[in-house]
Amino acid sequence: MAAQEVSNKQVIFKNYVVGSPKESDMELTTSKITLKVPEDCNGILLKNLYLSCDPYMRIRMTKHDRPTYVQSFIPGTPIMGYGVSKVLDSRHPNFKVGDFVWGMTGWEEYSLISSPQLFFKIEHTDVPLSYYTGILGMPGMTAYAGFYEIGSPKKGDCVYVSAASGAVGQLVGQLAKLTGCYVVGSAGSKEKVELLKSRFRFDEAFNYKEEADLDAALKRYFPEGIDIYFENVGGKMLDAVLINMKLHGRIPVCGMISQYNLQQPEGVHNLVNLIIKRIRMEGFIVADYYHLYPKYLELILPHIKEGKVSYVEDVAEGIENAPSALIGIYSGRNVGKQLVVVARD
Ligand SMILES: NC(=O)c1ccc[n+]([C@@H]2O[C@H](COP(=O)([O-])OP(=O)(O)OC[C@H]3O[C@@H](n4cnc5c(N)ncnc54)[C@H](OP(=O)(O)O)[C@@H]3O)[C@@H](O)[C@H]2O)c1
Repeated sequence: MAAQEVSNKQVIFKNYVVGSPKESDMELTTSKITLKVPEDCNGILLKNLYLSCDPYMRIRMTKHDRPTYVQSFIPGTPIMGYGVSKVLDSRHPNFKVGDFVWGMTGWEEYSLISSPQLFFKIEHTDVPLSYYTGILGMPGMTAYAGFYEIGSPKKGDCVYVSAASGAVGQLVGQLAKLTGCYVVGSAGSKEKVELLKSRFRFDEAFNYKEEADLDAALKRYFPEGIDIYFENVGGKMLDAVLINMKLHGRIPVCGMISQYNLQQPEGVHNLVNLIIKRIRMEGFIVADYYHLYPKYLELILPHIKEGKVSYVEDVAEGIENAPSALIGIYSGRNVGKQLVVVARD
């Protein structure tokens, strides 16, 4: 039987971006795709269900003079990002038709993945599949690796999380509570601050946009200082945190979203505190910790099923709305994990 050819809506990356990304940096087109893996290819043919909007994607929109940890998007081709997909055809021994997977796919309805080795097969489908863009996917692993492997938390530690209501932050706060820590989060709106306290059970939360003096705000919530700062934003917040850290504090440096759209990154002025207070500040990339994924699932799945950990998603419907959803995360429009539904099955 001849392989079926269907139309394939795609979000195309138009050109490299300088400054803040705009919807017009991407365009929706329709092409055609045959729903079969070619005979000379060892890959998989995917139907994409959920696409993940992640801050690092801005780094891929820049043309870099020096190599960095991710490659730039190629103008004229679909945006690439994490997603949850269903296998429609396979010539790879690890995947069969009907499997659900998560990994790096195209922003399009169907994708041919010629090297699927880095895809994770989804074994647990008794939880929402969309969770594999968030708590059960890359952001979840980021929270887990950064908090436990780099933060080295102990019961009673004072923990501060920035961008705390987002995909990573909401989980870091809940993991810290489960560890017996005192946890404070900051976020950019009243609604998000409420969410941190009521839904995620942070001990305290504040709106950093309403604080004229970040140092004073941190002193208010951490009169004795901070043991662990889970860094998501960088810039002025990092400077204020450095002067409020305790002796032997730890700073897992997860991200610095406040810097991603700047042409000139801001300076950090209070680094001398690293010496005076013997602080360990360490950057990390989640991909270096994916070997811990089975261990992470063992910890987190029961917590989800028993309702000990909850997860908030911000769901954009339809691939047409993917560009707007992606640029929204750089101005804090998302409440919780931003994802896009392409199809539900
Ligand atoms: N190292 C790794 O492997 C790794 C992996 C995943 C994520 N990350 C990093 O982790 C951080 C959080 O990612 P996420 O997926 O959880 O994103 P997210 O928090 O779901 O979304 C981004 C949030 O950042 C905040 N934000 C945007 N611009 C800001 C600015 N100029 N200053 C301060 N806050 C700003 C906004 O929340 P507000 O309303 O609160 O401002 C926005 O909602 C990012 O820095 C990301 O790059 C790193």
